Amino acid sequence: MPVEQRLRLVTAVPGPRSCELAARKAGTVANGVGNVLPAYIVEASGGILVDVDGNQLIDFGSGIAVTTVGNSAPAVVARVRDAVERFTHTCFMVTPYEGYLEVAEHLAALTPGDHSKKSALFNSGAEAVENAVKIARVATGRSAVVCFDHAYHGRTNLTMALTAKDMPYKHGFGPFASEIHRVPMAYPYRWPGDPARVAEEAFAQFESQVHVQVGENQVAAVIIEPIQGEGGFIVPPDGFLPRLAQWCRDHGAVFIADEIQTGFCRTGDWFACDHENVVPDLITTAKGIAGGLPLAAVTGRAELMDAVHIGGLGGTYGGNPIACAAALGAIEEMRSHDLCGRAREIEAVVRDRLQEMAGEYAAIGDVRGRGAMMAVELVAGGRQPAAALTGAVARACHARGLVVLTAGSYGNVLRFLPPLSISDELLHAGLDVIGDAFAEARGS
Ligand SMILES: Cc1ncc(COP(=O)(O)O)c(C=O)c1O
Repeated sequence: MPVEQRLRLVTAVPGPRSCELAARKAGTVANGVGNVLPAYIVEASGGILVDVDGNQLIDFGSGIAVTTVGNSAPAVVARVRDAVERFTHTCFMVTPYEGYLEVAEHLAALTPGDHSKKSALFNSGAEAVENAVKIARVATGRSAVVCFDHAYHGRTNLTMALTAKDMPYKHGFGPFASEIHRVPMAYPYRWPGDPARVAEEAFAQFESQVHVQVGENQVAAVIIEPIQGEGGFIVPPDGFLPRLAQWCRDHGAVFIADEIQTGFCRTGDWFACDHENVVPDLITTAKGIAGGLPLAAVTGRAELMDAVHIGGLGGTYGGNPIACAAALGAIEEMRSHDLCGRAREIEAVVRDRLQEMAGEYAAIGDVRGRGAMMAVELVAGGRQPAAALTGAVARACHARGLVVLTAGSYGNVLRFLPPLSISDELLHAGLDVIGDAFAEARGS
């Protein structure tokens, strides 16, 4: 039965049954595993999550940019059901199956560039990033990796080293992998110089720091999120990514686009690199690829992907047949409902409404993002990060039944990632809640 696409609260959020489950969690789940909003979910579709107390919450989080096609999207469910009845696992490295090949073929066709491409499938985004670095190192015979301020690439040891933020992602978990070099990000809102020259100046800093501190011919790879996710939906100005890609071509380094959060229609294109026709050598994907099932990929130039010896890439579950079936269903949904177009429509609605709110609330210092990946950065007294206010607005949204997430190196960004299957009506209802939450936070 499809869930009625309407916000409906029948108890406080979280309600009493969710609170009972939260008490059970405290006794059995490690404290390190937190919950943004401890409303326990029993059902979901479109833009609505239904909790154990019968509340219908609006979803502006998509499970952190995963359920792009909506929860339990029909083509995902149909293909998963069919696949799970046939077989659940063989391990592609032992006895393979066709679904894996079909996913790799779609990845070759959909990712930027018309060169010959190959893929390898994994379970999580972090695992894909680790493998992209492994491939780049073998292909170049070099070891240094350049990454950026505000980056997020995962929580495994190598990806923690690539991730910028200490708390909560890295704190106490070191020592980290070596040969990782961090350079400034082209962050328009916080760039100290002339706003018109951010791309040029940030690239100049990249070039100079790599030259002085690393050495061009030591660089195996430059890795960047084309729009930074956890770092606060930082959109680099046009010209920055093409310059980096060109630098990599000039110096024999591998340009890795981490499109784990931005990929698969989220930003209004199949991939965020498409916006400026940037063609990465390797691209990492996960999250939206499979409608909620765990799947990730590294896709790239065939000659780079094939540099690794046989048996050098893989893992027990990577490219699991059920996850591959889900990916084929998700891609079918994206194509048949033109979800890239839908992301652009969502951007138009959300940007307008957020800009209206920015006119009303001085704390909204910046409205940014692309497609259905929009955010506001909250500040006080100039551009001082307003993390406490951000938390208060997020909590006010949660109490009113809207799932929103925070982000940003300074914890002062509210980010909005609705599923692309959300209706305009529900989108506006969610934006109304955000307006009310700002009004309450200003009043308090
Ligand atoms: C850009 C980016 N890279 C990597 C990851 C890590 O993915 P996972 O959580 O699946 O390991 C994330 C997760 O948020 C991400 O946003």
